[in-house]
Amino acid sequence: EKGTYPHYMLKEMDEQPTVIRKIIQAYEGENGDLTIDANILEALRAADRLYIIAAGTSYHAGLIGKQYFEKMAGIPVEVHISSEFGYNMPLLSEKPLFIFITQSGETADSRQVLVKIKELGYPTLTITNVPGSTLSREADHTLLLHAGPEIAVASTKAYVAQVAVLAVTAYVTAKANGKGLEFDLKQELAIAANGIQTIIDSKDVLEDIAEDYLKIARNAFFIGRNIDFYVSLEGALKLKEISYIQAEGFAGGELKHGTIALIEEGTPVFALVTQEAVSLNIRGNVKEVAARGAYPCIIAMAGVDEDGDRLVIPQVHEYLTPLVSVVPLQLISYYAALHRRCDVDKPRNLAKSVTVE
Ligand code: M6R
Repeated sequence: EKGTYPHYMLKEMDEQPTVIRKIIQAYEGENGDLTIDANILEALRAADRLYIIAAGTSYHAGLIGKQYFEKMAGIPVEVHISSEFGYNMPLLSEKPLFIFITQSGETADSRQVLVKIKELGYPTLTITNVPGSTLSREADHTLLLHAGPEIAVASTKAYVAQVAVLAVTAYVTAKANGKGLEFDLKQELAIAANGIQTIIDSKDVLEDIAEDYLKIARNAFFIGRNIDFYVSLEGALKLKEISYIQAEGFAGGELKHGTIALIEEGTPVFALVTQEAVSLNIRGNVKEVAARGAYPCIIAMAGVDEDGDRLVIPQVHEYLTPLVSVVPLQLISYYAALHRRCDVDKPRNLAKSVTVE
């Protein structure tokens, strides 16, 4: 029930710190360390390549999961949009493991890939929010998101849960494989949960940004580099879905290869700056669009922020920035939709689970 909340989406965004804390608890072993089911760990360790299959927001989480498995555990990963997988089935490695990321566990596009992969006899793991869902029942293994029911069509807390569970899974696999990781993920997730809370506690700032940048905007761009690029894709999807503003996410360096032609006087450009290694480059991209009249909104993480940034978000571990940086984008979309009098929880033309191919 949404209780005193005007919309499920607002309630679900507010639940995000609690969701992260629940995931920490759910994946805590007896000795207090993070852990996952022994059979799943075995399947992950046996794989020479992971194939992540997902749609929409879950696909965006998968892109981040690729970084986690490759950087922490050293396992190569491919991420595929489920509806495209069948047309362009990649050449598979010798020991693939297929990971289906799906909030609902009912997405038909993802299920048709699962059916095909099972016919081929390869091992499968579903990461889902819904125990007993079709993709959970039909896969060999399941990892749960522990996000609680997500009612709003726009996925918020499930995305954050997907990113957190992918981090836990990659971290536990890396540790089991003897990779020396210099951070305690449990602690870092707790810090991220607090960081999200700080943003949620200052929602009015995001409401102001939404009014300032999006009240009358026809389109908007989201840019980032490295992991921020993936979050910019998610920010754009959120805005499109619920406010009907045409929005696109881009890799900062890609703009000059075409998209910059769309920048006009006043075009809103949201730029994420959370990674020190690419901070100068993305700030360079902001200057390029500003010089062509764009209205840039820099959302930077503390530690890489500069004077003039519109929003500074709390500092978290460099791997976990998506958990925190996505939240202002969710809230900006929410308030933009409200200002434009859109039906936030039930946007036009969309369903919560997409059970047709
Ligand atoms: O239930 P799933 O995670 O499989 O759903 C996939 C997409 O349909 C879903 O993420 C969709 O993009 C959301 N409405 C995004 O907010």
